[in-house]
Amino acid sequence: MTSTEATQPSFLADPYPTLARLREMAPVSVVDTEGGLPIWVVLRYEDVRAALADPRFGQDVERAHQLAKQRVTGLELGADVVHMLNTDPPDHTRLRRLIQGAFTNRRVAAMRPMVERVARELLDGLAVRAVETPEDVDLVRDFAFPLPMMIVCELLGFPVEDRFDYRRWSTAILTHSELSFAEAMADMTAYLRDLLSRRRERPGEDILSDLLRAGDLGQISERETVAMVYLLLIGGHETTVNLVSTAVLALLRNPDQAAWLRADPARMPGAVEEFLRFESPVRMATLRFTTEPVSVDGVLIPADELVLISLAGANRDPARFPDPDRLLLDRGDAGHLAFGYGIHRCLGALLGKLEAEIAIGGLLARFPGLALAVPEEDLPWRDTLMLRGLESLPVVLGG
Ligand code: HEM
Repeated sequence: MTSTEATQPSFLADPYPTLARLREMAPVSVVDTEGGLPIWVVLRYEDVRAALADPRFGQDVERAHQLAKQRVTGLELGADVVHMLNTDPPDHTRLRRLIQGAFTNRRVAAMRPMVERVARELLDGLAVRAVETPEDVDLVRDFAFPLPMMIVCELLGFPVEDRFDYRRWSTAILTHSELSFAEAMADMTAYLRDLLSRRRERPGEDILSDLLRAGDLGQISERETVAMVYLLLIGGHETTVNLVSTAVLALLRNPDQAAWLRADPARMPGAVEEFLRFESPVRMATLRFTTEPVSVDGVLIPADELVLISLAGANRDPARFPDPDRLLLDRGDAGHLAFGYGIHRCLGALLGKLEAEIAIGGLLARFPGLALAVPEEDLPWRDTLMLRGLESLPVVLGG
């Protein structure tokens, strides 16, 4: 996979043949990515899981950027935003501890009524669209995006009316868009700093206020607080948007599976695990580097090499999941790595699954006649190596 290959429409629409080819060829491949930067890619299930749990794969973003710049001069990497997902212990441990209490089983279960309310409001909005503008219904814009975004705003204590700005910045940071990476980072950081200072004057019951209190106790710096909310805002919606929209597409492509799921709503939690395996919303874990030479399945990666760990490669590995390219909602295997593994395993996994269960279940129940409004090959996929998601999903909602 080269940088050109990775941004080809055919790779974006269906990356799995390329990942399968690389995975069969060798346990680890070196690929050329952005600007010609060579990166090692780990693709097989057992190796991916082992690498994610191995402290010899460092996460420190400042060091990773330094290594990248040593390889390719003039590389545009943007500012280092240091948050828990790109730091190593002990900073990672300290930052994660500060907010993990907001994502426990109990706290997430208590969010169910709120998620159901937001989903119901959005489904009502879709029903109105189905009558007023039936030719213009985009399930990404009108449902899969606003749902997790509104939930994460509520959780963080963010003004929900600014959600389109958040989405614009997030898109520019993660994909190639009209707004540049640097502009988006600058706009978003200024916005977050301003929001923090306003919240300091009027604290509430939200993560932002909790972080400000932790800051007063010297547990987190202001720079880290900005980075934390940046991570939660982006990580808390970009992923679930992709999960919900690709799951709906997978159901439209597999009507037998949709019928099986509709027959018994209790099947939804297992189905969501299979959606996560089948179209992993984060297809590559965030950038790592070797802190010393590491042997992966007999291939020696020298020290100071940049490494990508392919969650999508692992989740489609036939050595772990028989018939991996088939969506089998009754597979009954939640061993996928879509939330990562090890110390950085997704903090929002329970919340992401709850949102997806409610969103997909609500949509199936409310719109049994749901169908694609455009030929499948015209669907636009997001232009990013790291994420797997649709730009838009035009549908006909039916009666
Ligand atoms: C279906 C939805 C989601 C998926 C597939 C997903 C996936 C992931 C993955 C793969 C990682 C680890 C990446 C790595 O190791 O490089 C991660 C980390 C993280 N995710 Fe999620 N995520 C989802 C939803 C959420 C939500 C809803 C939140 C919060 C509101 C969230 C917050 C985080 C945080 C804070 C981390 C960093 C954890 C750490 O570094 O210790 N995620 N997520």
